[in-house]
Amino acid sequence: MKLIRSIAEWNPHWLNHLQKSQKIGLVPTMGALHQGHLDLVGKSKVMMDVTVVSIFVNPTQFNNPEDFKKYPITLEADLEKLKESGTDYVFVPSVETMYPNQTRLTLDFGDLERVLEGKFRPGHFNGVGTVVSKLFHIIKPHIAFFGQKDLQQVAIINRLVQDLSFDLHLEVVPTRREMDGLAMSSRNLRLNDEERKKALLLFESMNQAKNRLLEGQAWREVKESVRINFEREKHTQLEYFELVNPDSFALYGEFNSEQKSSICIAAFVGEVRLIDNLPIIP
Ligand code: PAF
Repeated sequence: MKLIRSIAEWNPHWLNHLQKSQKIGLVPTMGALHQGHLDLVGKSKVMMDVTVVSIFVNPTQFNNPEDFKKYPITLEADLEKLKESGTDYVFVPSVETMYPNQTRLTLDFGDLERVLEGKFRPGHFNGVGTVVSKLFHIIKPHIAFFGQKDLQQVAIINRLVQDLSFDLHLEVVPTRREMDGLAMSSRNLRLNDEERKKALLLFESMNQAKNRLLEGQAWREVKESVRINFEREKHTQLEYFELVNPDSFALYGEFNSEQKSSICIAAFVGEVRLIDNLPIIP
């Protein structure tokens, strides 16, 4: 496994693989790797000739400076896991490499970013779109791998690829969960034991809501009971719990079993903000 820190270091490797007509897979990450990330690597290993994992905690996508400061950094352990997974290259650029100048161009994803993550984290998707565009230009992958856990991010990057004509394909990998159902996330590392138990409320709420919707209960009632449950549970704060079209992120006011739909949730458990989603009608 080769550690690459600059664009100049990567370019000769890229050219070498291009000359051999080898297909390159990119797994963009912010490090603090868990099995969910390794699933993306595994998928790339199966589908591609060469797998590149990028590790870069992108400052421009954090709307909250405290969240950025506290984002877990575990580079040594990450490199160990990637070596074991058979990753070919790890791209670990500096902030200066990714942002030699302050980026002036801004991206507006329209309706897609006026709801959920876009609404509660202003500027977040501009930062994601900017850094992902840069990674696509630098690494030039044939396929980029993303987790379904960040469902709205997937829709945003899909739009980015279409609107800017990136010559690549996106591959979305299902959310990896802990045994009890909690979605794996780098942020879980910041939960203490008590918070870790409370964090299960996200998955339980979505699961119960799914069952109740499929039994015919009204979405309004289901949503209200989730809100009340969160209010009762100390040290948790529900930010949103919505039923959406997973492609357009249009919010539904009612459940319709004929329409593609997913539940999306964001909540604070202690000081840690967690998100998750569950397909209801895929
Ligand atoms: O999903 C993430 O970890 C980040 O948003 C990404 C795609 C690596 C961009 O920084």
